[in-house]
Amino acid sequence: MSEAKNYKKALQHSVFNTITKAAANLELQSYVIGGFVRDHILQRGTAKDIDIVAVGSGIELAKEVSKLLPGNPKVQIFKTYGTAMLKASDIEVEFVGARKESYQENSRNPIVENGTLQDDQNRRDFTINALALDLSEDNFGNISDPFNGLEDLRSKIIRTPLDPDITYSDDPLRMMRAIRFATQLNFKIESTSLEAISKNKDRIKIITKERIVDELNKIMLSEKPSVGFLLLEKTGLLPYILPELVALKGIDEVEGQKHKDNFYHTLEVVDNISENTDDLWLRWAALLHDIGKAPTKRFSKKVGWTFHGHEFVGSKMVFKLFKRLKMPLNDKMKFVQKMVLMSSRPIVIASDVTDSAVRRLVFDAGDYIEELMTLCEADITTKNPKRFKKYHNNFKIVRQKMVEVEERDHIRNFQPPVSGEEIMQTFNIKPSREIGIIKEAIKEAILDGEISNEHDAAYQFMIKKGEELGLKSS
Ligand code: CTP
Repeated sequence: MSEAKNYKKALQHSVFNTITKAAANLELQSYVIGGFVRDHILQRGTAKDIDIVAVGSGIELAKEVSKLLPGNPKVQIFKTYGTAMLKASDIEVEFVGARKESYQENSRNPIVENGTLQDDQNRRDFTINALALDLSEDNFGNISDPFNGLEDLRSKIIRTPLDPDITYSDDPLRMMRAIRFATQLNFKIESTSLEAISKNKDRIKIITKERIVDELNKIMLSEKPSVGFLLLEKTGLLPYILPELVALKGIDEVEGQKHKDNFYHTLEVVDNISENTDDLWLRWAALLHDIGKAPTKRFSKKVGWTFHGHEFVGSKMVFKLFKRLKMPLNDKMKFVQKMVLMSSRPIVIASDVTDSAVRRLVFDAGDYIEELMTLCEADITTKNPKRFKKYHNNFKIVRQKMVEVEERDHIRNFQPPVSGEEIMQTFNIKPSREIGIIKEAIKEAILDGEISNEHDAAYQFMIKKGEELGLKSS
């Protein structure tokens, strides 16, 4: 025990008193440890879960706590890990016996022996996560801080309790956690720790994709995600996780012509968009919006650097990337694909905003037009203030036009104004390809502004189109 500081205030939830009683009944010591303590001291809101260490059996303590709680909540036991979990009203409590652990080369799963509180604190990931509050009656709320975690919280430092080489090699997920905490909390990773991450980077291979993605998502949802991606890049972890981003790094120069560094550009876009949205998937779209640029990069004397079709190629890469990282291959992925595919559309029309271009944009983006505009605005990273202003103004014009066109033409949730049924009746025909041709022609005429989006105009157009196809109206 270093400081005799007391944090009773953190322990106001009634479940703590119950744990104190249960531990006394079993004559063992118990402590609350980890994120709950850290976040209380940092004043990061109220935690949804609590980690309890028992010097003895965590499972027995959990059972005893359940006996004392109203309604005796169910205790979930994870035998392999020697842990137990229960829900006490609004909060999840996880119990573990204090352990001494050693890890195996090719697995995150440790060989576990019983240990003291100090043994348990030694095997935790960071000094700021090893802080423990005593739950015994006599010392209720006293803090145990063997590695000066409090000091590291004050100076905003991520440091491991043991030699970082051991801590990271024991559990390589911690390399991701270090970077995630640095990003979330705006802390610095202490230099020997950072070196140890670089040295142990290859060990990330034994970590499941799901856990890596959990950490990536937490980085993504931070205030400034670029902090995490720059650290992933600096430590050499990024090529194992998102090689598509690494491929965007660098500036090529041919005959005095350069293109921008699309890696740093991308990170700026992600930070920009994070100021305007908390939508995880829109942030992913920002991260991936240019990934097609690496495989499509070409140089020609005539036009310099080009990335033709990078949006299409990029959207195909999104699928492969999601699949590789075992991310959901559902509507979230389709949304990211759509954003990547359409990421240049508003820019292309911004310099010459015609009604029909706006109608087509709104039609193609469907329900995601707002998100697409947010992405395109975040994509403006020019350092030239004049151009910055001009591009933003152009998008304002596009947005205005979108409102006007939408009021008039209702393109957003487009429903064909003439149904296939009506076409069949009008021309007295059976289901056939002509119906598709006519419907498509009506849609195109509306998007082009040739006719308005309403039944009568579309009906007249249908008659004309049908006659062109040799059909006779009845
Ligand atoms: N821990 C660890 N090594 C890991 C994961 C967790 O040493 N790879 C320890 C840390 O002491 C951590 C505690 O277990 O504080 C609880 O872990 P977890 O609930 O995953 O994270 P929190 O620190 O609570 O933070 P967050 O909820 O933000 O993930």
